Amino acid sequence: MTRLRVCEATKRYGDTAETINVFTGLNLSVDADEFVTLMGPSGCGKTTILNIISGLTPLTEGTVEFDDKPVAAGEFSFGYVFQEPRLLDWRTVGKNIEFVLRSADINASEYDSRIDSVLRRVGLDDERDSYPQRLSGGQRQRVNLARALAIEPELLLMDEPFSSLDEVTARHARQDLLDVWYNTQKAVLFVTHDMSEAVALSDRILFINKDGNLFDEVTIDHERPRDFDDPALRETEAQLTHRFFESLQ
Ligand SMILES: Nc1ncnc2c1ncn2[C@@H]1O[C@H](COP(=O)(O)OP(=O)(O)OP(=O)(O)O)[C@@H](O)[C@H]1O
Ligand SMILES: [Mg+2]
Repeated sequence: MTRLRVCEATKRYGDTAETINVFTGLNLSVDADEFVTLMGPSGCGKTTILNIISGLTPLTEGTVEFDDKPVAAGEFSFGYVFQEPRLLDWRTVGKNIEFVLRSADINASEYDSRIDSVLRRVGLDDERDSYPQRLSGGQRQRVNLARALAIEPELLLMDEPFSSLDEVTARHARQDLLDVWYNTQKAVLFVTHDMSEAVALSDRILFINKDGNLFDEVTIDHERPRDFDDPALRETEAQLTHRFFESLQ
């Protein structure tokens, strides 16, 4: 069943004198329980697509629908893990999460239990009263993820969430994400530059070129749960890298 549907989406920035066409007539969809990844070179419009779906940025033309209902610009929807963790340094981890619950109109009586349960899920139950500045980069990213999960979103948008982490921390973070996703089975739209990450996580990978055209898609049908060291995953990664290398530069 299709949950997210982006139809004939066109995004332009600027006025007629200086126009940037980010993409034209883009179509994509994400099914219930599906983990879909967008891959494409820097500047091809990946963050713009997530901003549009979340309602942060208006579309120039086209529609975004979730469960067949239009998603309106200006109404921030879904869980969104931003490319840069935008944590409020002057609030504790718990208060950072509470801030998002408050904005999402969650009943105040649920704050405590939601904060506790989401921090347990990302392995940060001891850090509820810590300030973000004393956390490591990996821990900050997990707070970022916890914040997006706390509102129990029907769709999780993730913009290169692990690209600033060292490889060991990123591996743990990917495993945490897969565990959370496996247990909640929400639709995910994920952005990465990293083919091995895309293959390890996704059900489907959408490839976008530098002109913002979605030019191909590949279904990754390796069984789950997946072992990141499985040679079969490496083989798929090598084939896709070979096939798409030119287009992803
Ligand atoms: N607010 C804005 N005003 C004008 N142009 C913008 C704005 N935001 C993004 N752009 C332009 O739109 C294009 C797409 O940017 P976007 O950030 O979506 O790319 P991206 O694929 O996420 O890149 P990266 O992989 O580097 O994060 C770029 O050419 C960028 O300069
Ligand atoms: Mg981006």
